[in-house]
Amino acid sequence: MAADRTPLIAGNWKMHKTSTEAVAFLGELLPRLEGVAGVETMVCPPSIALPAVAELARAAGVRVGAQNMHEAESGAYTGEVSAAMLLDSGADAVILGHSERRELFGETDEALARKLPAALGAGLTPILCVGESEAQRDRGETEDVLERQVVADLAAVGDEQLGDVVLAYEPIWAIGTGRNATPGQAQEAIAAIRSLIARRSQAAAPAARILYGGSVNSDNAAELLAQPDVDGALVGGASLDPDGFAAIVRSAARP
Ligand code: PGA
Repeated sequence: MAADRTPLIAGNWKMHKTSTEAVAFLGELLPRLEGVAGVETMVCPPSIALPAVAELARAAGVRVGAQNMHEAESGAYTGEVSAAMLLDSGADAVILGHSERRELFGETDEALARKLPAALGAGLTPILCVGESEAQRDRGETEDVLERQVVADLAAVGDEQLGDVVLAYEPIWAIGTGRNATPGQAQEAIAAIRSLIARRSQAAAPAARILYGGSVNSDNAAELLAQPDVDGALVGGASLDPDGFAAIVRSAARP
């Protein structure tokens, strides 16, 4: 982590926890985060639990993110939610382009190119996920995949707003598999992403926070976070355990 970027640890709960369960979980998690400084913490519950989570989390200084949104302000889009609705429900950030949305729900780079400016325009911090499959890595295509995704997804974001986007490098083969990228692999890919941002804006590149995601846990977090370009973590499974998630947050904290 570089000294001038505040680390961010975000927990992606995916489709876990009702509002009732989320409130009970925060009752366990928030006391474990008391007094931890020098790190931003975020939880990303299912959208229906955002109001209940936001009330408790934000009072404790914990940020709240959604997991997806539609790019339109409103309209005939059955089952979708807009940036304004997420904001009104207490979210201040939104995960966009998670590989599960790309693979299981047909999320495209074209849609993401519309979602990114919509999120920023509404005042939400987008967390844009990019990453290669195992087959793409084996074929030596990792940097090409990252370039394609970063260039396409950020195409409609103005240079002056690039530094406000959080990116997450999430190799698909590391998500939910217990097989995290090595610190060297994470550093290499994240440095490549940062140089893609630099191609657009020399000012944004050192400002943008780029997280690593994929089987992060309390045992491997510290060495991943020690890499100079790794600015935090997007944590799935381990974010559902209050002890484990709090330990990851503590390992990112800088006095
Ligand atoms: P994982 O998920 O930590 O369970 O691998 C990460 C993610 O999907 O964001």
